[in-house]
Amino acid sequence: MHEDLQEILITEEVLQERVQKLAAQISRDYKGRCITLVGVLKGCVPFLSDLLKRLEVDTNVDFMMLSSYSGSQSTGVVRTILDLKQNIEKKDVLIVEDIVDSGLTMGYMLKNLSTRQPRSLEICTLLDKPSCRKTKVPIKYKGFVIPEKFVVGYGLDYNELYRNLPYIGVLKKSAVKGL
Ligand code: IMP
Ligand code: MG
Repeated sequence: MHEDLQEILITEEVLQERVQKLAAQISRDYKGRCITLVGVLKGCVPFLSDLLKRLEVDTNVDFMMLSSYSGSQSTGVVRTILDLKQNIEKKDVLIVEDIVDSGLTMGYMLKNLSTRQPRSLEICTLLDKPSCRKTKVPIKYKGFVIPEKFVVGYGLDYNELYRNLPYIGVLKKSAVKGL
């Protein structure tokens, strides 16, 4: 375990098993169709990569980068920093996100992408922290529901660190400034 962590919340083995199950479920649901995965950078990267390798349907990948966070605090205002390269009109779009916390980011994504008239638009998030929700978000696929803790690893960062950890953990108080 990384020395800045107080505990591991989800081990690598449990993460991988869950991702495999999600991929199987998504492959069943989208059978015969082509999925356009829209990853939300940068937190989605390990999750999207593991999910992608396990999907058994045609898949097309694109990314968006948004901003609302600075450190561990959300500013509440979501902006597009990097937009999709593809036209998603009439496409089956599946947003891939690391965590839904307040729901503001996913609320923004749904509103923004739905104006482009996809055939379908759903959310797949690795983690769901429902205790912090400020706006209701319909989540079709979720990996784990977690308690109100600031977590890092497997794509999730604190000031751009810890994304490389293969598990999800909780930072020690001493490693966090301003939590
Ligand atoms: P929301 O808009 O509040 O739902 O926040 C979503 C984004 O905030 C996620 O995509 C993450 O990048 C970031 N975030 C929320 N909670 C955590 C956390 O516990 N650890 C790391 N990043 C988080
Ligand atoms: Mg994110």
